[in-house]
Amino acid sequence: MKPAAVAALGLALAAPALVLPPPAAAADPERGKALAVNRQKGFCLLCHAAPIPEERFQGDIGPDLAGAGDRWSPAELRERVAHARTLNPASVMPSYAQTHHRRQVGAAWRDRPLLTEAEIDDVVAWLATLRAPRP
Ligand code: HEC
Repeated sequence: MKPAAVAALGLALAAPALVLPPPAAAADPERGKALAVNRQKGFCLLCHAAPIPEERFQGDIGPDLAGAGDRWSPAELRERVAHARTLNPASVMPSYAQTHHRRQVGAAWRDRPLLTEAEIDDVVAWLATLRAPRP
């Protein structure tokens, strides 16, 4: 390596802020599915059934999520997950992106959203894969 390159590398290592952050990871439907099942994260199955046969416990307070990717565009799915109470103030579904419009929130979650933006991207990517079976 040339001295200038060595110096640049040293500078980059010494000052992490100067190094560009890695590009945001692409949304991953498998990660989204795991978040939907996880009881400490999305816990969507508390209220929804979904086509995840290995999960025995599935709720029925909300609509079955099977076919959600046909009923809604990705943008509409994102709006429903991120801001359910903006669409329907009386909804029992949490607004996963918000720290307000929430009820019965544990102290640990009071000031942070239930899911990060990247996690919501993953959940939406999973929802978009839920297509109704074709007759
Ligand atoms: C506490 C119950 C509850 C939880 C938890 C919940 N939902 Fe919901 N969800 C509902 C209800 C009820 C509706 C019906 C619309 C409304 O009341 O807002 C709904 C509607 C939806 C819809 C629109 C469904 C359709 O086809 O009309 C989607 C998509 C959805 N939820 C996804 C999710 C995802 C993904 C999660 C987890 C990250 C989740 N929900 C967690 C209760 C819940």
